Amino acid sequence: MKINIEKIRKDFPVLHQEVNGKPLVYFDNAASTQKPKVVIDRIANYYANEHSNIHRGVHSLSAAATEEYEAARKTVQAHLNATHDHEIIFTKGTTDGINLVANGFRSILKEGDEVLISELEHHSNIVPWQMACEGTGAKLKVIPINDQGEWIMEEFHNLLSDRTKLVAVNHVSNALGTINPVEEVIHAAHSKNIPVLLDGAQATPHMGVNVQDLDCEFYALSGHKLFGPTGIGVLYGKEDWLNKLPPYQGGGDMIKSVSFEKTTYNELPFKFEAGTPNIAGVLGLKSAIDYVTAIGLDVIAEYEQELLEYGTEKLSQIEGSKIYGTAKNKASVISFLLEGIHPYDTGTILDKLGIAVRTGHHCTEPIMTRFGIPGTVRASFAFYNTKEEIDKLYDGILRVKKMFG
Ligand code: ALA
Repeated sequence: MKINIEKIRKDFPVLHQEVNGKPLVYFDNAASTQKPKVVIDRIANYYANEHSNIHRGVHSLSAAATEEYEAARKTVQAHLNATHDHEIIFTKGTTDGINLVANGFRSILKEGDEVLISELEHHSNIVPWQMACEGTGAKLKVIPINDQGEWIMEEFHNLLSDRTKLVAVNHVSNALGTINPVEEVIHAAHSKNIPVLLDGAQATPHMGVNVQDLDCEFYALSGHKLFGPTGIGVLYGKEDWLNKLPPYQGGGDMIKSVSFEKTTYNELPFKFEAGTPNIAGVLGLKSAIDYVTAIGLDVIAEYEQELLEYGTEKLSQIEGSKIYGTAKNKASVISFLLEGIHPYDTGTILDKLGIAVRTGHHCTEPIMTRFGIPGTVRASFAFYNTKEEIDKLYDGILRVKKMFG
C-alpha cells in the first residue's frame, strides 16, 4: 500500500501555516512530532464532555473515564504486543520511564556491579544510570561507536560480563538515526541472564515494535514523538521485573492500604502510577496509536526510507556538507554540518526560510565529543513530509552557503 500524502497532510492542522512568511517545512520530528486532528479532538472532547478522576468514583463520569483510560492501556498492550496489560505503565515520557527503572535498580546494584550503556545514548539514558551508580558504587560501562555511528559489537561482547547487571541502550539514535542491532544485544545479554532496557523514543515513531519478539525486559517510549500529546509515555516491563522493582513514587492509587505503621502497595500496573495520572494524555496517545496503526507502520517505514534516501542523496551533492551518522540501518534522521559554518547559524537562516531543524548536541554530548564537533544540524522526517520539502531544504542550504561563503 502507498501512503496518501495529500490526505495525511490535511490531518495535521499545524503544517498549514507560514513561518517567517514562508510555508512551514517541519523537519524537527525527532524532537517532537505534530499531532493529527483526531488526537487534538480526542483531548478537547475529553475535557469538554468526559472529564473526571479515574479509579476513584462510583459516579458515572468517573466510571466512564476509568473505562476509557484502561481501554487505552489495552491499545498500548496490543500495539507493543505485551503479554499482559498490567505490564504497561503510563509515565510522563521516556525519561520518566528510564528513571523509574533506574530508581528501582538502586536497590539491586552493589559495589562492583556494572550497568552497560552505549556512546550513542541520549542524556536521559546516561544520567539516570550515573545517578544510580553514584548511590550504589556500581560502575557505568560504555559500548563505543565507529565512524559511521554504529556500535562496535566486538567491544560490546567484550564488555558484557558477570558484573553486568543491566544493559540499557537505545533502539534508534536520536542524533544520528542509527537503528541499533538490539536483537543481538538482547540475545547475548540473556545468555548471561542479564536484563535489557530499550529506550524506544526514536524507534516507535518509525517502526512497529513487538516486545515479545524482542524479549527485552523493559521498553520505554514517549507519546509526543508518536504523534500523541506531550507529558505522556509508556514503560513496558516484564511482569516479574516490574514486581521485583520497588515503587517509584508514593501517593494515591499506588497503595493497597495505608497506616502509620505500615503501607502495602497496589498490584501492577497501579503500583507505578501514583497520583492522578495524565488521563487526557493517555486518551490522546490511544488516538495517536489508532491513527498510525490505520496508516500502517510498515507503510510509514517504507515511505520514510524513501525520504531518507532522497534527502541523503541531495545533501551529499552539496559541496562542503558532511553527514554524521552513515550507518547501514538508519531511521529518517539526517545530521549534518556545513564546512566552516556553525550549526546554529545554519539553523537560524533555515528558520528564516520557514524550515524547522534542530541544531546543537541533541542531548547527546558524548556523541559530539566522539566526533570532535560542537553539534550538528539535524533534519528528521516524518510520514507527513515530502520530497518537495527536502528540495526546499536543499535550496535553503545553498542559500546559507552563499551567505556565509
Ligand atoms: N530527544 C529529543 C531530540 O532528540 C528532544 O531532539
